Amino acid sequence: MKTFIVGNWKMNFTVGESSIYLHKLLKRIKTARNLEVAVAPSLIALQPLSLQLDRKKIKLAAQNFYFRDFGAFTGEVSIAQLRGLVDYAIVGHSERRYIFHETDKDIRSKVAAAVRMGITPILCIGETANERDFGETEGVLKDQLLGGLQDVAKEDLDKVIIAYEPVWAISSVKDAKLATPDDIEKSVKIIRKSLEAKFGKETADKIPVLYGGSVNPHNAEAYLSITGVNGLLIGGASLIADQFDDIIEIAKKVIVK
Ligand code: 13P
Repeated sequence: MKTFIVGNWKMNFTVGESSIYLHKLLKRIKTARNLEVAVAPSLIALQPLSLQLDRKKIKLAAQNFYFRDFGAFTGEVSIAQLRGLVDYAIVGHSERRYIFHETDKDIRSKVAAAVRMGITPILCIGETANERDFGETEGVLKDQLLGGLQDVAKEDLDKVIIAYEPVWAISSVKDAKLATPDDIEKSVKIIRKSLEAKFGKETADKIPVLYGGSVNPHNAEAYLSITGVNGLLIGGASLIADQFDDIIEIAKKVIVK
């Protein structure tokens, strides 16, 4: 299976800054076999960046979209409109779930819409600090995972990526804590077991599971070495070219190990 390094730029950089930053990354990054690098800039930067891009090096991901294709939905952008611009789309990020009150039904519809349009959804799941403290991690992960995949046909599940992002470990969250490799391994086991139980081992084994939450060049190797983890979804560190590139170099080393 490939290793994925995905940068989520969130609501950072103007279009001009995005373009300058991408230029820097393209000059610096040397990709490798079995390594897939993608960045998710702001929606308005996708069109210009797609023209500037060397897709052999870096692919584009959307941070968000609406699940209907066209119509009277003022202010929304559909995945159908993003076709040709992005290869991936982040769905169900905790910032969408908790700041913008996206429901499980919205998320399920978005995952299905992306698959229908041939764009790989990166379905984010993860428990909050409270849910973790109350011992609800397993239930939350199973609900978000199987709920999010509910409208995807079994034969399309190999077109989906899961990202485990414990909300309490995201760098911008108040009182964020660093997840230990043990914490992550436990949750990734829950995710892999749930996929296996629901869809069978052969299908489950084709689904990449990424980790996200305060990833930086110091912890990337440990996180990438966790059994069952196939890559990283990076927020803050993906905004700094040196750090993002360092993480890519670390991923290359881990892949050949
Ligand atoms: P940080 O890497 O800043 O913790 O963000 C993680 C994240 O939310 C990526 O989607």
